[in-house]
Amino acid sequence: MGSFSVLSHAARRLEGKVALITGGASGIGSSTAKLFCQHGAKVMVVDIQDELGHSVCKDLDPTQASYIHCDVTNEMDVQNAIDKSIAKHGKLDIMFNNAGIVGYKKPNILEADKTEFENVLRVNLVGAFLGTKHAARVMIPVRRGSIINTASVCSIIGGAGLYVLQACTARAHEERRG
Ligand SMILES: NC(=O)c1ccc[n+]([C@@H]2O[C@H](COP(=O)([O-])OP(=O)(O)OC[C@H]3O[C@@H](n4cnc5c(N)ncnc54)[C@H](O)[C@@H]3O)[C@@H](O)[C@H]2O)c1
Repeated sequence: MGSFSVLSHAARRLEGKVALITGGASGIGSSTAKLFCQHGAKVMVVDIQDELGHSVCKDLDPTQASYIHCDVTNEMDVQNAIDKSIAKHGKLDIMFNNAGIVGYKKPNILEADKTEFENVLRVNLVGAFLGTKHAARVMIPVRRGSIINTASVCSIIGGAGLYVLQACTARAHEERRG
């Protein structure tokens, strides 16, 4: 949008960078897409909410932001999203593994459901793993790039009844350290 150009050149810290944001259709992801665009980046918004994702890109500058349907639990989808970014922009500088779900809040672990537990793990952990793997596939050869994984304060503070989120964000913290 025209308003982005009011930022001084010095403030456009991502000028020339290409970023892929999973879960970019809403919340933190869409806010990040907007901020990255303001700072001059080309942004690939990746999500399963197609209508919302397209509308986020339309509200941003369509020459800067584009939408790709991708379920982060599906390796072919993730591979395809990265490859499309490379085909469109020739490189990937920033991979933001942001897509995540919380799962139902169950104060009593005896009410927790295994299928739901596995679903949260698939999106939050396997999704971040696949995003990291395929971003690394294109970043390692050029020896350049940043991979960012979202975690949560739930990984270090218990008691919210979000057992799955706690388990997988704690794991994400460990992966970051490792
Ligand atoms: N909002 C918070 O207070 C908070 C706190 C700690 C951590 N987080 C983490 O930050 C991230 C973003 O949270 P948010 O509050 O913006 O949530 P949100 O629900 O607004 O956004 C998450 C996005 O991820 C997408 N998504 C879900 N499953 C997907 C899949 N399989 N493939 C692709 N996209 C998928 C959703 O469609 C949605 O657009 C999440 O990982 C969340 O766990 C959020």
